[in-house]
Amino acid sequence: MKCDVLTLFPDILTACLNESILKRAREKNLLDVKLINIRDFASGPHRQVDDAPYGGGAGMVFKPEPLFRAMDSLKEDSEPRKVILLSPQGSPFNQSMAEAYAKEGRRFVFICGRYEGIDERVRTMIDEEVSIGDYVITGGELAALVIIDAVTRLVPGALGDEKSIEDESFSWGLLDYPHYTRPREFREMEVPQVLLSGDHKAIWRWRRKEALKRTIQKRPDLIGKVALSDLDKKLISEIKEEA
Ligand code: ADE
Repeated sequence: MKCDVLTLFPDILTACLNESILKRAREKNLLDVKLINIRDFASGPHRQVDDAPYGGGAGMVFKPEPLFRAMDSLKEDSEPRKVILLSPQGSPFNQSMAEAYAKEGRRFVFICGRYEGIDERVRTMIDEEVSIGDYVITGGELAALVIIDAVTRLVPGALGDEKSIEDESFSWGLLDYPHYTRPREFREMEVPQVLLSGDHKAIWRWRRKEALKRTIQKRPDLIGKVALSDLDKKLISEIKEEA
């Protein structure tokens, strides 16, 4: 994944980009993130990036000029880019979007909003408006990180162990199955016998059933979106009988 992040607070991103999977992905050139401080493109002695809203009202609005200038600076190279505005009004980000972004050939530009809003004319530069959920956070930086993280883990080689993506709950469209590690017994709680059996088919069936059970219990809305196999249907009727 290659992206430019337009932000007033690049340090928020730096901290996460220098840890764990994102750090390793950058070292392996699987992730290329350029942080662009919007304030560098603001003019005047105070480099002001916000102003009072026309029509009055509380709060400040992100001025258009610094954002347009920051975007113009990217045009110096001719790399095609997909421009994403992060805002609570955007399309809700989900795993299918992460998968599509991981396959996107273009470089991304993430515009991180702040203040009460941005000048409406900025929308003329954007291809997509994306939200990470139905709540308001202080700015788009954390949202950009969520998206960069979700997409990077889908880039081949980024996790080191490709099987872990295939086994991940959301790649099945289901919630995750339970995981256990040593010790075999802990405070009188035992690891399910099937996981110690070495029978890979039985283990796979148990995991699938547990993933279905959890999804039915916690996120029934997701079940309708999964293409259920005949085995899934059988597992679901077993779950219902056992309940
Ligand atoms: N900025 C503020 N809230 C946001 C959200 N929920 N998603 C993306 N960007 C945001």
